[in-house]
Amino acid sequence: MSVKDHKLAAARRALGFVEPKMRLGLGTGSTASLFVELLAAEVQSGLSVLCVPTSEETRALAAKLGVPLTTLDETPLLDLTIDGADEVDGELRLIKGGGGALLREKIVATASDRMIVIADESKRVDKLGTFPLPVEVVRFGVTATRNMIEMLAHDSGCQGDITLRLARDGTPFVTDGGNYIFDCSFGSVDDPESLDEALKFIPGVVENGLFLGIADVAIIGGADGVSVLEAHYGESAEAV
Ligand code: A5P
Repeated sequence: MSVKDHKLAAARRALGFVEPKMRLGLGTGSTASLFVELLAAEVQSGLSVLCVPTSEETRALAAKLGVPLTTLDETPLLDLTIDGADEVDGELRLIKGGGGALLREKIVATASDRMIVIADESKRVDKLGTFPLPVEVVRFGVTATRNMIEMLAHDSGCQGDITLRLARDGTPFVTDGGNYIFDCSFGSVDDPESLDEALKFIPGVVENGLFLGIADVAIIGGADGVSVLEAHYGESAEAV
């Protein structure tokens, strides 16, 4: 089975959590897109749901496939968000934002009663930080903001390259919110809560890709099948 099969298996399992009339948040990325495709097939068969996408990319895909869409302004409370992740640890803490949608992803996930993460097994880590942490920043004063990220991350025990994300054409990558992203290669984040708090202190930082205490369930597809982990905050996640 390929990595895509593992992602698909996780997405398929997540579909089992969807109930008629639910208000759903739709994530961004390759795994979330597979979920949108599966959901669209259910909608074609008569399932009634109303969805808020976490990016323009997901909005376009869902619209093309006929998934009923709304906005978070029209529907500010959601039942369930299903999204991918770049890393998932044993407490269901996440790094997200590899696709650049972390801000809307975090807004939508926290507006939801529950968040389910779907991922292939390569995303499951013991410690967060191998995947560079995306930090979304406003364009004004971007160098000063970068320097503050470096300084305060260092105080939280994190060091490494901090690079401005570029688009394919070599210009800075611009998020759906019109901001830039720094990718922070910290290697290992021993205390995600302290790093998150430090980053939130910086005026130019809009949001960072640490999702702490947000995910309720992680569905991980792998060579041995699908495992479902449930968060028990303060303890390690349990397989169910
Ligand atoms: C998008 O900004 C990210 O948070 C994605 O959820 C994450 O990058 C996972 O993407 P894949 O499913 O493509 O690995």
